[in-house]
Amino acid sequence: MDDKKRIRAFDSCILIIVCLIIFVVGEAEGRAFFVFGDSLVDNGNNNYLLTTARADSYPYGIDYPTHRATGRFSNGLNIPDIISERIGSEPTLPYLSPQLNGERLLVGANFASAGIGILNDTGIQFINIIRISRQLQYFEQYQQRVSALIGVEQAQRLINQALVLITLGGNDFVNNYYLIPFSARSRQFALPDYVVYLISEYRKILVRLYELGARRVLVTGTGPLGCVPAELAQHSRNGECAADLQRASDLFNPQLLQLVNQLNSEIGSNIFISANAFQSNMDFISNPQAYGFVTSKVACCGQGPYNGIGLCTPASNLCPNRDVYAFWDPFHPSERANRLIVETFMIGDTKYMNPMNLSTIMHLDSMT
Ligand SMILES: *[C@@H]1O[C@H](CO)[C@@H](O)[C@H](O)[C@H]1NC(C)=O
Ligand SMILES: *[C@@H]1O[C@H](CO)[C@@H](O)[C@H](O)[C@H]1NC(C)=O
Repeated sequence: MDDKKRIRAFDSCILIIVCLIIFVVGEAEGRAFFVFGDSLVDNGNNNYLLTTARADSYPYGIDYPTHRATGRFSNGLNIPDIISERIGSEPTLPYLSPQLNGERLLVGANFASAGIGILNDTGIQFINIIRISRQLQYFEQYQQRVSALIGVEQAQRLINQALVLITLGGNDFVNNYYLIPFSARSRQFALPDYVVYLISEYRKILVRLYELGARRVLVTGTGPLGCVPAELAQHSRNGECAADLQRASDLFNPQLLQLVNQLNSEIGSNIFISANAFQSNMDFISNPQAYGFVTSKVACCGQGPYNGIGLCTPASNLCPNRDVYAFWDPFHPSERANRLIVETFMIGDTKYMNPMNLSTIMHLDSMT
């Protein structure tokens, strides 16, 4: 090679490196999104596990862009997908997906796993699920991988500027305390004491998230657990929401809000944002017609009373128009209901969002 050629080769080499840096770092400027929790927010991690808690076959995903089951517990998009849409990001890939590597890591990751709860003993019947402590370990592992990609400092920035969603608690009642009559936890604790215990464990989880660098954490309480078709089918005589599970949500949600407020005053203001999922759901459950649903009691996919017995499978009843059903399956909202829920997260007033809604957060964060 003569000198001219060598210089030209060097120049194009530099150019490629500069382009790579702009590409990688440029992507990191977009806001990453991390998701922790249970089936309400799982984007498909359980597909990679030996578990009975899965949504990887028809008719799950029937209204998803690919019309295929992805592991989301929805006919189409779920809550994290719609949040991603609203913040202008790609949907988060499940952390266990082999596709989650390279630049894709910079979009964030979804660590959620259907069946889990705040407690380690929640969801043991599902065998192999990613408990919350493991989800947090994966988050650490993720950070190491991103550091290797863009450097420790950039990675730290990406985490600090990210939006985080955590949805936990429902299974600690449905798939633990109330799973069977005289469950171990219900013999150990009266319901109010159980809730206090759950909140004390949840506190450790949220503090750990903070230690791991999360600075904007959307914490959702439980929906109206007694009003889901599964509970109507099992614990309600006349279609009224099941009283014991409603009592559980009524105790849990206000204490979770209190915890969020406490943490914000101890750690730093507005790190944790409390979303009142109970109210968001209750709006369309108590007045489905006002929201364009024909029913909020009967699941679109299922069998038995309210289509609330067992799981949604290829053999289940399936409604022709998922948009007019508030519940997709015996436990999970339809995509349209998820859109209504996310709308309250985005623009709801303090009845829904404390200390502020997501659009306000997005606005604040865009100015720093
Ligand atoms: C749950 O399990 C993890 C990992 O084994 C452990 O670190 C944690 O202390 C456990 N939590 C409770 C409440 O026992
Ligand atoms: C929520 O969002 C709306 C619309 O963006 C805004 O007008 C309102 O003030 C916000 N409320 C709170 C409590 O942040």
